[in-house]
Amino acid sequence: MLDSSPAQRASSHASERGPAAAPEAAVHIRGLNKTYRAAGKSPAKRALIDVDLDVPRGCLFGLLGPNGAGKSTLINILAGLVIKTSGHAEIWGHDIEREPRAARAAIGVVPQELNIDPFFTPRQLLELQAGLYGVPPKERETMGILRALGLADKAEAYSRSLSGGMRRRLMVAKAMVHDPPVLVLDEPTAGVDIELRQQLWQQVRALNARGTTVLLTTHYLEEAEELCDRIAIINHGRVIADDTTPNLLAQLDSKDLTIVVDRALDEVPPALADFDVKLSAPNSLSVHYCVKESPVAQILTAIAEAGLTVIDLRTEEADLEDIFLQLTRAPAEDASADESRGRDT
Ligand SMILES: Nc1ncnc2c1ncn2[C@@H]1O[C@H](COP(=O)(O)OP(=O)(O)OP(=O)(O)O)[C@@H](O)[C@H]1O
Ligand SMILES: [Mg+2]
Repeated sequence: MLDSSPAQRASSHASERGPAAAPEAAVHIRGLNKTYRAAGKSPAKRALIDVDLDVPRGCLFGLLGPNGAGKSTLINILAGLVIKTSGHAEIWGHDIEREPRAARAAIGVVPQELNIDPFFTPRQLLELQAGLYGVPPKERETMGILRALGLADKAEAYSRSLSGGMRRRLMVAKAMVHDPPVLVLDEPTAGVDIELRQQLWQQVRALNARGTTVLLTTHYLEEAEELCDRIAIINHGRVIADDTTPNLLAQLDSKDLTIVVDRALDEVPPALADFDVKLSAPNSLSVHYCVKESPVAQILTAIAEAGLTVIDLRTEEADLEDIFLQLTRAPAEDASADESRGRDT
């Protein structure tokens, strides 16, 4: 799927900026907490609880979680838009609290909400943004960035005439003007149709392939599975899983096995009583099993003991959705109000 390792992909940024400026973790977070203070009738809300997270340099990292899990809060803390309650975060080796300017220069953030001034053209918007970041006119790559995001032919169009998908890409372009080594995308494909989503994925992959570390949030499981090298799952403000995508998928070893047998049955044969079996059609048995606990051979032996012959069989692997549901099924425990912890917003 991806043709080079994250470290290789990051080497361009690393060599450009010198070894001292290329930390192993592009984003490094320890013990991060955020409590939004109570306002009116809303109680205080612990949106992040003791979050530890490392985004390896060069990685395409997915932060996955349901609505209200704390994804935007985490992103907005990195972007300098929300003030953390406690804990520590570094972007490209720069502490967001002690070196806010350097930290902000190292990150480009595409927020969840589209906010584009409709009366500017994409070219003007990028020039303005470059000015805000102090990029000298000679070093600006306005057209190159627009081209990379498939917007070159819209450079002079009013932004209000752009489609939603184009606006989303323009937001990515805006986040890239200062050539940050870390690009953060908060729900980049929310509300984007399937075709445009594929295009946006391609563009994100291309940016990652030329060395940009990408951290994206999503609640589309297939997006994380398809796009990301590594995935962290966040739920009720806590990181509940953080692993490479293949490892995460391997975590769940339960499978469904469908066995078509040589004759119609009225009920599940007694020889199979020890297994989790249903009759899915008169001649078809569906077995839910754990690879570790009941190897397929055991199931097939029981089928033979029942005097049946197997005509066909099919297994279905668990996917990220199963893992996600399994992990996020736990209710919120102490993620609710805790006034004593912090009072900033
Ligand atoms: N400014 C705020 N003041 C008070 N509470 C807030 C504020 N922003 C977010 N929250 C609360 O913090 C929790 C985490 O919100 P956050 O926006 O970080 O979630 P999210 O994972 O980005 O969700 P979504 O998938 O819907 O974008 C939610 O319960 C939310 O209501
Ligand atoms: Mg959000």
